Amino acid sequence: MSSIVCDIGCGRGAPLSFMARDFPKSQFHGIDVSENCIETAKCRRESMQLKNVTFHLGDALESVEQQDWRSKFDIVYCRDLVHDLQRPDLFLKGVKNILKDEGYFVMVEITAHGKPAKNVDIPSARHMYGASLFRCLPMSLAGNGESMALGAMWGNERALEMLAEAGLKCFRSEEVDTLNTAYYCTKN
Ligand SMILES: C[S@@+](CC[C@H](N)C(=O)[O-])C[C@H]1O[C@@H](n2cnc3c(N)ncnc32)[C@H](O)[C@@H]1O
Repeated sequence: MSSIVCDIGCGRGAPLSFMARDFPKSQFHGIDVSENCIETAKCRRESMQLKNVTFHLGDALESVEQQDWRSKFDIVYCRDLVHDLQRPDLFLKGVKNILKDEGYFVMVEITAHGKPAKNVDIPSARHMYGASLFRCLPMSLAGNGESMALGAMWGNERALEMLAEAGLKCFRSEEVDTLNTAYYCTKN
């Protein structure tokens, strides 16, 4: 079986390259707004001699509005991207445009409650609030226009609400490592 997979906010492309290596019949696309990340990802692709992965320099929201990507992907994957966006609400709505009708959207985000007081038992929470303040919030506030400025600790409750508001049906969510929760969705 072969699939077409897109990793939006792919960073330096490590997860996508390992998937491309392990599933040689499938096609993989990675997109990131950072030139440095895309250059590094392309070097990795060359050194691993991968023919089934393409890296694109571009913006997440623009990518889900791209006409030639309409209904193209079996799987759209984003790890630690959505909270960095200025308008994650518009992005999540747009994801449906580029998913096939039977496609899956997988969003991986930091495990947290929306209310800070509920996070005292999460060992990584103090570190993540700091990282969010100095890296994620500036990233989402950096563009022109209005920003939702979610921050990395936006919380699982809000994530589920926003997926539903975007018309994505989350059929399962689970903690996948000590930091992250994965949300598995289909189009409603
Ligand atoms: C925390 S990193 C995660 C990278 C990768 N997904 C991983 O898990 O290793 C967030 C990535 O999202 C990218 N990013 C942030 N805003 C973006 C946007 N508007 N469009 C595309 N990529 C964006 C950043 O350049 C960065 O590489």
